[in-house]
Amino acid sequence: MRLLKSQVLLRLFNSYLIDSPEPANISYLWNFGSLLGTCLIIQILTGSFLAMHYQPHVDFAFSSVEHIMRDVNAGYIIRYCHANVASFFFIFVYAHIGRGIYYGSYRSPRVLLWSIGVIILILMMAIAFLGYVLPYGQMSLWGATVITNLLSAIPVFGPDLVELIWGGFSVSNATLNRFFSLHFLLPFLLAALTIAHLIALHIHGSNNPNGVTSNTDRIAFHPYFMFKDLVTIFLFFLVLSILVFYYPNLLGHSDNYIPANPMQTPPSIVPEWYLLPYYAILRSIPNKLLGVLAMFGSLLILLILPLTDVSRIRGLTFRPAMKLFFWAFVVNFFILMWIGSQHPNTPYVEIGQIATAFYFAWFIIIVPVVGLIENTLMDIATESKELSQGYTFVGLFNNFKLAAVRLSFVGLMLNLVNSATTVVHLSDADLNQLLECLFNQLGSSRIITETMLKQFGLYTPSVIEYLMKLGYQIINM
Ligand code: HEM
Repeated sequence: MRLLKSQVLLRLFNSYLIDSPEPANISYLWNFGSLLGTCLIIQILTGSFLAMHYQPHVDFAFSSVEHIMRDVNAGYIIRYCHANVASFFFIFVYAHIGRGIYYGSYRSPRVLLWSIGVIILILMMAIAFLGYVLPYGQMSLWGATVITNLLSAIPVFGPDLVELIWGGFSVSNATLNRFFSLHFLLPFLLAALTIAHLIALHIHGSNNPNGVTSNTDRIAFHPYFMFKDLVTIFLFFLVLSILVFYYPNLLGHSDNYIPANPMQTPPSIVPEWYLLPYYAILRSIPNKLLGVLAMFGSLLILLILPLTDVSRIRGLTFRPAMKLFFWAFVVNFFILMWIGSQHPNTPYVEIGQIATAFYFAWFIIIVPVVGLIENTLMDIATESKELSQGYTFVGLFNNFKLAAVRLSFVGLMLNLVNSATTVVHLSDADLNQLLECLFNQLGSSRIITETMLKQFGLYTPSVIEYLMKLGYQIINM
């Protein structure tokens, strides 16, 4: 045990996977991170074995994959694992992001963690797209052609850029070779970003379903979460085995079992299921350049959530109105996924356009406006206690008047400006009470973290000086 805490590398291992204090109340929704880590490891391992037998050449790629399936020992297991874990990777990442949105995990102090996550998501999509080209079936070739051609919409140098990426005048042997090289290389960048993600997580620790600090109720990662995570990891292995051994092509497209033929376009060109929502956003805008911008924008827009979420409450556990809009967003995401799989005809185009508009409106309009209305309702509820006076007619009338003024556009804007600019000055009595609260939490410890002070709103020069005079040590961890 002593070695675990003194040896430099073991100490790191210990602080992440053994002694790490986790909120006692996190639910199974906090298991997706470890499932994602498991997927990453499986993909790198199975991918390395596939690369030992794969030939990145237009004449041999398709047959080399068939060779893996038929001749290589357990080759079909390795290939089907790689293909199906790619799908699970996305199921888990969407659930992981959904959990983050639901519980406000993107809010301060976890903005860096969230932003690294968004970069990871974009990189995952790029890697999955590159990998899908490698078997060089019909959908590989034509998917690659459609997606690489998108860059031609960039003004001035777009067409030249596309030829640079192709290494020729169409998707060809040079393209396949470089895609293989990148598909091999980028997962290691993904692994590095995942480590950065975990380091960022480690600074403040996990959020929890209540949305308030869990510093008073934490339990060690090992054995509690070690075994809790293993429950879902084994469940994942079970479901993965059923897919790999009984329905290995359930999530794939049959056209990719036809060798790539540059002379014949398939009846419909669709990406893998997990890219369909973004494909729908791309196609719902008639202008090519704007479509490409909207597609990338639909991923990058995740980065503005910490800014547009103005609610005073973290997470949706105690926000019934926003819960409804969260589920509307989820349903809309599935609608986009369905639209992405359809031919771009009426009424699919129109439905796609409405769903795309809702997708963007959710981040830019719905999240801030609902947050603001909820904040205002909370103000009204607390102020109107005095006004309602036992629900007399006059009291109720005053409440309605107050609500109408506060909930008008001008009222909401005033509230927004107020909450952004108001500096709260505590009375001496309130400050004493807060300090007492802090000391109760500390017990006999003489060490106070900056985070803890910030949580109590006590991170001010005068409080710090006062605490240091009392012999407390203030650390940044
Ligand atoms: C390779 C992909 C990823 C891996 C391996 C990964 C891993 C993890 C792990 C192990 C955790 C802690 C356990 C948990 O809360 O589930 C975590 C937390 C978190 N991740 Fe990820 N993650 C990945 C992708 C993403 C993406 C794409 C996003 C967002 C766009 C994201 C955002 C977050 C946030 C906000 C937390 C903190 C959650 C909380 O404490 O409530 N992650 N991640």
